[in-house]
Amino acid sequence: MNRSENDPLFVSFLAGSIGQWKIDRISTVIGEGLEAAERLRVIEGSQVPDTTNSGWLLLGSTSNTRYSTRAEVDEMKAKQASLGREETTRAALIPIRKSAAWWELAQDERRAIFEDHSRHISIGVEYVPAIARRLHHCRELRGPFDFLTWFEYAPQYADVFEKLVHRLRATKEWDYVDREVDIRLSRR
Ligand code: HEM
Repeated sequence: MNRSENDPLFVSFLAGSIGQWKIDRISTVIGEGLEAAERLRVIEGSQVPDTTNSGWLLLGSTSNTRYSTRAEVDEMKAKQASLGREETTRAALIPIRKSAAWWELAQDERRAIFEDHSRHISIGVEYVPAIARRLHHCRELRGPFDFLTWFEYAPQYADVFEKLVHRLRATKEWDYVDREVDIRLSRR
């Protein structure tokens, strides 16, 4: 059966001594951190990898959008860049958990905080296509985080990415983030 672009894609992020990405640093933003490791393997597909002699393993899946309007989806699709481009030798894996207070809200209340107030999408699209992204959900998988956010960019956009992260962390949406770890990676 052919995969459609909207089908969930399972992705495993496995820390250890092997993998296509070198871990440059792991910073704890809020809550509990993650153990140091040398490299990260990003494995697409539903099979959970063998974790013998490995460090932490985070599992997530792409999913349908929750908050984006038709106009926002269309704008993102028109502008966004794909992952795995030759020049994007820097990446960030930022696992995030949101508080019980966030999950108690209704969908319309979350959308109001996420976009009407915090401008997450409006801010984000300013950085596309320089920053390529993929959002993985994991709340339903009972992992330690709710989201595994993944970004790829060329080295000349490292400062630009820093600015983006800084702007988003200053929004009301981030008042609901109770665990966040910022993992920066490079290849070649
Ligand atoms: C490259 C620029 C970015 C763009 C264009 C962007 C865009 C988006 C969009 C459209 C969604 C909502 C998808 C939906 O409708 O469900 C989303 C969700 C999310 N983004 Fe971003 N984003 C960007 C950067 C970031 C960064 C840097 C972070 C982390 C530091 C981040 C963390 C998240 C999280 C955690 C969610 C899930 C929110 C939730 O469902 O509660 N995003 N992003």
